[in-house]
Amino acid sequence: MKPSGEDRAARAGGPWEECFEAAVQLALRAGQIIRKALSEEKRVSTKTSAVDLVTETDQAVEALILSELQERFPSHRFIAEEAAAAGAKCVLTPSPTWIVDPIDGTCNFVHRFPTVAVSIGFAVNQELEFGVIYHCTEERLYTGQRGRGAFCNGQQLQVSGRQVGHAPFTDLSKALVLTEIGPRRDPATLKLFLSNMERLLRTGAHGVRVIGSSTLALCHLASGAADAYYQFGLHCWDLAAATVIIREAGGIVMDTSGGPLDLMACRVVAAGTREMATLVAQALQTINYGRDDER
Ligand code: IPD
Repeated sequence: MKPSGEDRAARAGGPWEECFEAAVQLALRAGQIIRKALSEEKRVSTKTSAVDLVTETDQAVEALILSELQERFPSHRFIAEEAAAAGAKCVLTPSPTWIVDPIDGTCNFVHRFPTVAVSIGFAVNQELEFGVIYHCTEERLYTGQRGRGAFCNGQQLQVSGRQVGHAPFTDLSKALVLTEIGPRRDPATLKLFLSNMERLLRTGAHGVRVIGSSTLALCHLASGAADAYYQFGLHCWDLAAATVIIREAGGIVMDTSGGPLDLMACRVVAAGTREMATLVAQALQTINYGRDDER
C-alpha cells in the first residue's frame, strides 16, 4: 500500500508537518504578491467601520490561500477574514481548521506603511497546533509549532524576561507595551481605549506602541522586543498563529479577565511572564467587541 500524505508527514516530523510546510510556502507566495501590490494603486472598500478597510489584494490573497489549501486538504475547515466579512460563520470545531488573515495591517497596506503580514494558524481539536506569520516587506518568517519552538528566519525566539540566569521580568514600570486601536472610533470606545493607554502609562511603563498590525506586534513580543501586548477588538485570525508563536517562545497569552485565552472573544493580553500579563490585565477596563463566533 502506498503511504498516505499523513504517513509521510508523521515520519518527517509530526502529524501536521505537511500542513505546516504548505502554510509556509503559501505565506511566502502571498507575501510576494503583497510586497508588489504595496506600492501600486489600490481599490479600497470599508467593512464594519470607516477605518476597517479591505482591498482587492486582501481578497485575492485569501482566495489563493484558501483554494490551494482546500484542494490539498479537502476535509479541513476554514476561518478567514474576508470570508467572515462576506458572512461566513467563524466556528472552531474539533476538525482540523485553518485560521487565515491574508493581510494583517490592511490600513498600513493602503497607506504604503511597510508593516504588513500574512498570518496562517492551524488548530485541531480546538487546540492551536502551529502558526506562520510572514512580515512581507522585511521578509521575516515567524513560525511556531506546538512543542517544537518558535523561530524567525530559522533563529529561535524567546520572549523577554526569560533569559537564563535572570529573575523573571515582572516590573510593569520598566516595560515596553504594545497595543492596537481596533476598528471602532465612537466616543465611548475611544474614551476607554485612551483611558487604558493612560492607565498603562501611569504605571510608569517605558512606552506604549501602536504599529498597525496585531500579528506583527505579537511577533515583536515573541522576539523579546517588547514585554507585553493587550488589545480589544482584534479577531481570531489576528490571534491564532501569533498565539502559538508566543507560547513556543515561552510567553503567556490570556484573556483580559485574567482567565484562559478565548480565541473568539476579540480581546487578549500577552506577555513574557504570567506576572506581567496579570498586571496588564488588572490595569485594563473592558471594551466589549462581542464575539467572532456570534456574528
Ligand atoms: C487589524 C490590524 C489592526 C488592529 C485590528 C486588526 P487587519 O487587522 O491588525 O492593527 O487594530 O484589530 O483587526 O484588518 O489589518 O487584518
